[in-house]
Amino acid sequence: MKRLTIAIDGPAGAGKSTVAKLAAQELKYTYIDTGAMYRAVAWQALQQGKETTAKDIAGLANKLDIKLTYVDGKTRVKVDDQDITEAIRTPEVSRLVAKVAQVPELRQVMLTLQRNMAGQGGVVMDGRDIGTHVLPNADIKIFLTASIKERARRRWQELTDQGHAVDLAELEAEIASRDKADCEREIAPLVAASDAVHLDTTQLSIADTVEKILALAKGKLACV
Ligand code: DC
Repeated sequence: MKRLTIAIDGPAGAGKSTVAKLAAQELKYTYIDTGAMYRAVAWQALQQGKETTAKDIAGLANKLDIKLTYVDGKTRVKVDDQDITEAIRTPEVSRLVAKVAQVPELRQVMLTLQRNMAGQGGVVMDGRDIGTHVLPNADIKIFLTASIKERARRRWQELTDQGHAVDLAELEAEIASRDKADCEREIAPLVAASDAVHLDTTQLSIADTVEKILALAKGKLACV
């Protein structure tokens, strides 16, 4: 049976990684979290202990050694063999990552890396530019959204559960500013591909969202 490529794009907190992971599990496909890859570079930049410049990021892009592995159904992120899975989720990394993701040299390296990872299909890849740039020929493209308020609430819950003390209003402002940076950057801005299916998850449960994606996959598989 053909193994599909499924691209899921959308803003932070729309539920991309949660539904992408579950859809991949159901289909027995590989889940690729491209945001984690940009976060890994932001984490590396923070290790330098000084203000990060675009030149620093371009330098890091040239010697990128990011590995995504899957342990017990969970993605682990390694840089130079150091496991940074949890470290890339801190508010510090979240604050820096949109700036990092604007650097053309890095985006170019990521594009090649991510296309290679998608290889022969059987992947669910989530990010901001997957349907538009990384996998323009993806079999299924989803653009997942939710209101800013709901997205901030979800991030707050996630961070609170992990023991981080965060302020909801601050998170909302941060998400709005990250959206702006992601949507307005010159290279590969966050826009829906013209052939993407739009799903607003503000009031849609995780299970219902996954169900919709699986139905699209079934439809595709039935007609190939
Ligand atoms: O999905 P996330 O919050 O982990 O993404 C982190 C950042 O990386 C976000 O600011 C957008 C950026 N990103 C990107 O520019 N392109 C991608 N394909 C994935 C993420």
